[in-house]
Amino acid sequence: MVRCGGVRRVLVVGFLVLAFAYVHALAQAPTDRNAASQQPRVYASMLQVMRGVLYPASNVIFTAQIDDPASFKPAEHTSTSSDPFTSTYGGWEAVENSGLALAEAANLLIIPRACGNGKPAPVGNADWQMWVQELRDAGMAVYKAGQAKDNDVVLQAADTLATACLHCHTKYRNVPGGIPARC
Ligand code: HEC
Repeated sequence: MVRCGGVRRVLVVGFLVLAFAYVHALAQAPTDRNAASQQPRVYASMLQVMRGVLYPASNVIFTAQIDDPASFKPAEHTSTSSDPFTSTYGGWEAVENSGLALAEAANLLIIPRACGNGKPAPVGNADWQMWVQELRDAGMAVYKAGQAKDNDVVLQAADTLATACLHCHTKYRNVPGGIPARC
């Protein structure tokens, strides 16, 4: 009996300690109002953003010009498939997601960062900003094409997207001299 009471006392004390620690932690936790707000941080050059984010996302819709998104069979392991069409979010949903990814990726193009050659990218230029908006609109057109599940709408959206890429590339990427001469 005595031992049993001792165990109970230890449990009660343990509970009180935990409850106190929890209340204390709540009191210390920063609220939304006074937490330091996060700022965008830059890790990649414009060249790396293009290769790592825009290129893979846009290839989904460019593939959909040729292959019907509904024709893809899910991969054996959908959750680890590197092909959006055969992944867990495959088929037409992959088209929707690539459109949203591109519209969101447009935000990365207005964050000041360097080009591949180390020069600052011209993110403040009026024409650059106009073509970023064109990319946003094209991304949302791709999203809507995915929702429409219509191959003709996909062709139009892919064309709108390719034109958006091309407009900016004509001035800022396709320059004689390649990477060292860009931006
Ligand atoms: C607002 C301007 C702009 C838009 C819009 C844009 N790009 Fe770019 N892109 C650039 C610039 C500038 C470079 C060169 C970057 C560098 O060298 O640092 C580039 C480079 C690239 C590269 C790398 C080329 C290489 O030398 O390896 C790829 C790939 C690319 N873009 C894909 C795309 C795709 C796909 C789209 C459309 C979905 C797109 N970009 C839209 C400005 C843009």
